[in-house]
Amino acid sequence: MNVLGIETSCDETSAAVVRNGREVQSNVVASQIELHRAHGGVVPELAARAQLTAIIPVVEEALRQADTGLDEIDAIAVTRGPGLAGSLLVGVNFAKTLAYARSIPLVGVNHLEAHLYANWLAPVGDEMGAEPEFPILALLVSGGHTELVSMTGHGQYQLLGQTRDDAAGEAFDKGARLLGLGYPGGPAIQKAAEGGRADAFALPRAWLGDSHDFSFSGLKTALLREVEPYRLPDEEPETEDENDLPFRKHRPPRFRADMPVADLAASFQEAIVDVLVSKTANAVRNTETNSVVLAGGVAANRALRERLSDEIGAISGTMLRVPAFSYCTDNAAMVAAAGYYAMRRGAQSGWELDVSSRLPIGGMIL
Ligand code: KG4
Ligand code: ZN
Repeated sequence: MNVLGIETSCDETSAAVVRNGREVQSNVVASQIELHRAHGGVVPELAARAQLTAIIPVVEEALRQADTGLDEIDAIAVTRGPGLAGSLLVGVNFAKTLAYARSIPLVGVNHLEAHLYANWLAPVGDEMGAEPEFPILALLVSGGHTELVSMTGHGQYQLLGQTRDDAAGEAFDKGARLLGLGYPGGPAIQKAAEGGRADAFALPRAWLGDSHDFSFSGLKTALLREVEPYRLPDEEPETEDENDLPFRKHRPPRFRADMPVADLAASFQEAIVDVLVSKTANAVRNTETNSVVLAGGVAANRALRERLSDEIGAISGTMLRVPAFSYCTDNAAMVAAAGYYAMRRGAQSGWELDVSSRLPIGGMIL
């Protein structure tokens, strides 16, 4: 069964063809990073308009790379939330129209579930590994979410813990802003941290007792306190227009040249990774778990992948799954996979399918 996946929940436009839920035939991602960089983060209206211009070429390219005609597509899976409403509308409206015109089934997919299903994908041309074994403990770390989820079967989720303030990806993004490293923050901090000493600064970890919840806002404040002494006065805007909302230009902070950026970035990254990994290992010990899966954009972080592999590897009887790098950040292959497994359970969306900017994991898929 060939599923065409479509993902437009934020600032990436993606289309993919996936066979039988796991075999990726193509996965095309058009990034808007350059568009938003000048603003220091995603501007929702600009993101939605860029989705509108990218969607058709991206779908055409995905079909071309998969060497698959529209007549060979059996169903369409599309992200219906959570995400930016304007961006989601473009993908859902496109998917709905195409499914209607071709008389094929449509399924609306929860973006968070899609991130988890990245762990079922085999990259183009790669050998297919075994499926992760249930019960699964998932660490979902993206720009908007940080959750520990227990998955007892396909489509069966129990939320064990979540962030009480910032998501892990958001913490990386805000930390990068504070350090003047730009957008997107995760890759920028990872790069800046190379060669830095992770124990140079004793930044706080919010353990929150035995709870499986997370909190990263205190860490951000602590970083702010460390960089403040190095901060130079802001430059004046060159023209008054630059301050026009909603597309105001971002002016990165300026610092003295002697600021220990690598040490700060490494210590900041270590504080996030330490909490994520310790809490995941703790949850594994407290629940029945056969596999641990990592998912979401922050899953691309090398320090996190290494630490998790060390700590989970040390717990006997538990297998760790980590998606290929290209399936960590937003992509349509994971949407097609989640849609395939949902359809196997009998899920199908009606033409009244709507977007939902806030949708919890396990929220209604139809
Ligand atoms: O899953 P994703 O692509 O979009 C959402 O659904 O939010 O995640 C984006 C987040 C951003 O906050 C970005 O900074 C973070 O993932 N990210 C990383 C890395 N690559 C992306 N964080 C840490 N290290 C990375 N290498
Ligand atoms: Zn995402």
